[in-house]
This record gives sequence, structure tokens and C-alpha cells, in this order.
Amino acid sequence: MQLLYPIIIINYKTYLETLGEKGLYLAKIAEKISLEYGVCIAIAPQFVDIRKIAEEVSIPIFAQHIDPYPPGAYTGHITPESIKEAGACGSLINHSERRLRIDVIEEIVSRCKNLDLKICICANNTLVAKALSVLEPEMIAVEPPELIGTGISVSKAKPEIIINSVNAIKTISPNVHVLCGAGITEGLDVKKAIEFGSEGILVASAIAKSKDPEKLLREFAIALTK
Ligand code: G3P
Repeated sequence: MQLLYPIIIINYKTYLETLGEKGLYLAKIAEKISLEYGVCIAIAPQFVDIRKIAEEVSIPIFAQHIDPYPPGAYTGHITPESIKEAGACGSLINHSERRLRIDVIEEIVSRCKNLDLKICICANNTLVAKALSVLEPEMIAVEPPELIGTGISVSKAKPEIIINSVNAIKTISPNVHVLCGAGITEGLDVKKAIEFGSEGILVASAIAKSKDPEKLLREFAIALTK
């Protein structure tokens, strides 16, 4: 599945509102809006739903986390091979809610390059984003943890983190795509993020908790194309 930029990635996290049939419904909305506006919308469903959703929609699907281990005796771990086989094209890793050591991040990125899986590494600030850029993942998403889930967007509250991260990452690894997230709530947040140099957004609660996710996602897609 090809990734195009700018991109919207919806992280399902572990919300009840994104689980099972509800998650599939949201995936179908994402596919519909993506086709309507010609915008790339990817989703990161809950693990148990990846295969079901991948069988029913044609949009990029990411896991929310993976472990570096190879197939074998590693009880309870999620291998890159398993998410690929289930239909994912890549994974988020090092989310603030699921942080990893840098040597583990390096191992995952390297394993996934060999498997043609795209990795989006999350970073909690500009310095960490800069350090991670040497690994040359497909994407780095900078998300100040203190704004996650607050409804106060990174693009309004901390624009400098977007601008500085874009500059720092692109200086080291120009091919890495830079995204931002945390508190993205309305179209204006998306528009500002793009103006500050971001190549997309990572969003969760605003969509998961919305009474009308289709309307909100449409607003995001329009903001991305303007
Ligand atoms: O991965 C996206 C995320 O951490 C942002 O969460 O709820 O602030 O959109 P939220």
C-alpha cells in the first residue's frame, strides 16, 4: 500500500469506540473520505482487528507497536512478520504510551526495512526527534506528551516544536517525513501543522470520541488539501 504525503494517521489506541465492528466502521469512513478528497488516510487499529480491517478496506494500515524479535520462542511479543501477514504496511513505534529503548528502536527499524514495512517513530520532543532521524525511518511523528488527549493542539500551543523538529530532522535525513500530533481537534489545527512544515498529523481522541467522526475527518481532509 503506497503512502502519500501529506498524510493523516488515525491511532485507534485502546479506545472502546475503536474496537471490533466500531473500528471497522471507522476504517470505512477513513477510506471513503480518502477517496473523496484524494488524501492519504492511514489507520493504526487495535492488534486483534488488523486482519479483519485489512481484508475490508484499501487504505494503509499500521500496527501501534511491534517488538524486534524474530519468529520463534518469544511468547507474547508482536513480530514484524505477524503484522505484515495480517495486512499492515508498517507500524508506529515508541509512542509516548509505549516507549522503547533506542537500541530496540534501531533493531526494529532495521528489521522492518528488510521486510519492506514502513515505520513511524514517535518522539516526545525536538531533541529526541533529531536523534532518531539518523535511523532514517519512513516517518517521525513529534508529539509533546503533555498535550496528548487534551484537545489543546500542538500546532496552537507549541508550534515551535513542529518548526524546530522539521528543521532538525530534514537537515540530518531529508527523506524522513515529519509528522506531528497531540490534541489535534479541528481543521485549523491540521492547516497550521502543514503551514509549519509538517507532512501530516497523528490523531486519536478527537476522532475516537467524536459523535460524528465522518464530519470531523472530512474537516481534517479539507484542511490538508488547502
Ligand atoms: O498517536 C496520536 C496521539 O498520541 C495523539 O492523541 O488524543 O491527542 O489526538 P490525541
